[in-house]
Amino acid sequence: MPLINIIPGEKIPVAPMNVRLPAWRVPGWLLVFWWLARGLFRLTMLAVRYWWLTTPALLGLWVRAEYGGLVLVGVVLAVVTGCVGWWRWHRSSWLRFGWYPIVNRVRALTVYRRRWASVMATCGLATTFAGDRYVPQLLRVRCDRYGDEVTVRMLPGQIPDDWGQAAERLAYAFRLRQGQARSTDRADQVVLRFIRRDPLAAVVGPLPVPVVPDLAGLPLGMREDGQPYELRLAGSHVLIAGATGSGKGSVLWSLIRSLASGVRSGLVELWAFDPKGGMELAAGVPLFARFSYDDPDGMAGVLEEAVKRMRLRAARLRGVARQHVPTVDEPLIVLVVDELAALTAYITDRKVRDRIKEALGLLLSQGRAVGVHVVAALQDPRKDVLPFRDLFPTRIGLRLTEPEQVDMVLGDGARDRGALCDRIPESAPGVGFVVLDGVREPVRVRFAYLTDDDIRQLGRTYRRLDDTDEQEVTK
Ligand SMILES: Nc1ncnc2c1ncn2[C@@H]1O[C@H](COP(=O)(O)OP(=O)(O)OP(=O)(O)O)[C@@H](O)[C@H]1O
Ligand SMILES: [Mg+2]
Repeated sequence: MPLINIIPGEKIPVAPMNVRLPAWRVPGWLLVFWWLARGLFRLTMLAVRYWWLTTPALLGLWVRAEYGGLVLVGVVLAVVTGCVGWWRWHRSSWLRFGWYPIVNRVRALTVYRRRWASVMATCGLATTFAGDRYVPQLLRVRCDRYGDEVTVRMLPGQIPDDWGQAAERLAYAFRLRQGQARSTDRADQVVLRFIRRDPLAAVVGPLPVPVVPDLAGLPLGMREDGQPYELRLAGSHVLIAGATGSGKGSVLWSLIRSLASGVRSGLVELWAFDPKGGMELAAGVPLFARFSYDDPDGMAGVLEEAVKRMRLRAARLRGVARQHVPTVDEPLIVLVVDELAALTAYITDRKVRDRIKEALGLLLSQGRAVGVHVVAALQDPRKDVLPFRDLFPTRIGLRLTEPEQVDMVLGDGARDRGALCDRIPESAPGVGFVVLDGVREPVRVRFAYLTDDDIRQLGRTYRRLDDTDEQEVTK
């Protein structure tokens, strides 16, 4: 083996390492063939994916080639006539199996898929990692009369709330105005609902009065999905917050209406408080066991009486039952208060105000189990106006003036989950958001509207039987 002498300080010539990949010579025809094969494969995949477009087109072409253009026109006319006939004969099945499957696909292609990747990027829902781009996957589009539901597979690291926050941005990106995100059974998916036409645009008329009020579900209005909205009064107090003219009156009256048959049979006692001079509730006087307005001292007295009834009842029930069941002797007592802040904040006499606050605090914290419920409306949900806000398990948010008020009423994060109470237009009184049992995302509702005539009629039909002797009006 030859020995190499290395003299210190001498520069050794270094040969550069060859890092070039060996070049392959590909014949031109092979390259063209590869491009063609790849293009054909992609075209076939597209044709299969959009079979609902390609199949009729191919069939049309075949009919035209085989039998001529006239026959093709005849076939098209026959298909259109068949569809119209189906629509006339059985509308719901036509919509379900004929019309909406087509609309789903057309809107998925022309509205959502076309702009999907760019919208995801501009709304901050796509991401890049190690040089690769990750875009959430659009899984399904389902359309109905009022809007589109888009099912999406989220990227790892995303949660439905991220989509809730971006929902309005997404709606506008797809040229719509309203959007909401909701979670599904699958932890990797989220459903976006975009509204094309407001299902709650029309006024909801008075709902039928239940023969026996079901305290687990009193019908008060219509939900966005077309189902009736039913409020659970059993074991709860209800707070209705909304700016002036937002329709708080319609919620109170819908609730009174849903309890009306109980009022007539004596199972329900309504105690009405109308501190704004009796303007709102006066028309329903025949339904009320107590009606107080104007005089703060009188209202404090009635509230204290309610506390006394509650305590006596609690003493009777102790050890006998854990939840009160309404009877004619021990009816459900519902205190209906219009403008709660007029009782808790705007009264100048401090003594009276403290009495009212104390009584309300007791009723709210102890009344639920013994069948004494408070249903209160208020304009301003700020804490300093209403110290008892957290004692109302059920809350309804109508139109509110500021975004921060939404979370005050419906709970932390409610606005991010889609309760846009501050965006409800003034032209839609009676529209609001509610939180349903077991459903994370707030639901939009329109409450039924009772005209003055409806209210008078209700009072006449369902007046209390012992109306004359026991009713007490405190002024
Ligand atoms: N559910 C409803 N559907 C349609 N219109 C409604 C509904 N509720 C209320 N309205 C309309 O809006 C108007 C204002 O409603 P309402 O008096 O109930 O508001 P409010 O929230 O009680 O306001 P305020 O705080 O000033 O008393 C009503 O006169 C009625 O014309
Ligand atoms: Mg009112």
